[in-house]
Amino acid sequence: MKHISAIHIFIVGLLLVNTIGFTDETNQMNEGKEIMKDNKISLGAEIKLMAPVWVIGSYDKAGKANMMTAAWVGICCSKPPCVSIALRKATYTYTNIIERKAFTVNIPSKNFVKEADYFGLVSGRDVNKLSATGLTPIKGEKVDAPYLKEFPVAVECKLINTVEVGLHTIFIGEIMDVKADKSMVGENNSLLPCGLLFNPTTRDYYGIGEQLGKAFTAGREILNKKK
Ligand SMILES: Cc1cc2nc3c(=O)[nH]c(=O)nc-3n(C[C@H](O)[C@H](O)[C@H](O)COP(=O)(O)O)c2cc1C
Repeated sequence: MKHISAIHIFIVGLLLVNTIGFTDETNQMNEGKEIMKDNKISLGAEIKLMAPVWVIGSYDKAGKANMMTAAWVGICCSKPPCVSIALRKATYTYTNIIERKAFTVNIPSKNFVKEADYFGLVSGRDVNKLSATGLTPIKGEKVDAPYLKEFPVAVECKLINTVEVGLHTIFIGEIMDVKADKSMVGENNSLLPCGLLFNPTTRDYYGIGEQLGKAFTAGREILNKKK
């Protein structure tokens, strides 16, 4: 048996101290995911955020109304009031909007989860989604696109710009009118909360949560805090 010298013990000790120090200084692992020093877990460069569920209405060349579900969407300007929707070129809606320069944004209530999902499962190129769901397309009043009678809120948009990003093309639509069921209109013509949220990782739909505070007001507590 080889003789263990003091120098061997010293080297092993040094390695141990270094290893402990190293784990302490940098990230730890949890089920293969890195835990950062501030206790956050890095999930990588992926779409993980909850997104609103919008149903986009358009007409094809022949005038057939179509609806498609989109979640890569948002408000993008207040003056002029604009929204953005990100569509893959493969969608029928993409072709329709290029052709008609208009689209509608329809907000589903929680009673229309099935229909909203269906609009994202099949293409208007192959089927008539309106006949399949029995929902009613109404000709837009301000733009060349149909909106849904049964959904509580519809926004008529005129295409004003497109931006190529990668897989998706962003269509920017100027809002020409917002139409809402009377029951959805609150104080100062505000819209009452409605709509669905989509979790892209679990593929679950959620309703809108409770009111938690007043915007541009809740933060004043900190703003006004005496130093
Ligand atoms: C919840 C959900 C969100 C979706 N979001 C988008 C989106 O933002 N952009 C997109 O191009 N496709 C999206 N899709 C897929 C389209 O809705 C799907 O390809 C649809 O068949 C396209 O319809 P169309 O060919 O009639 O236009 C989504 C589907 C679902 C179910």
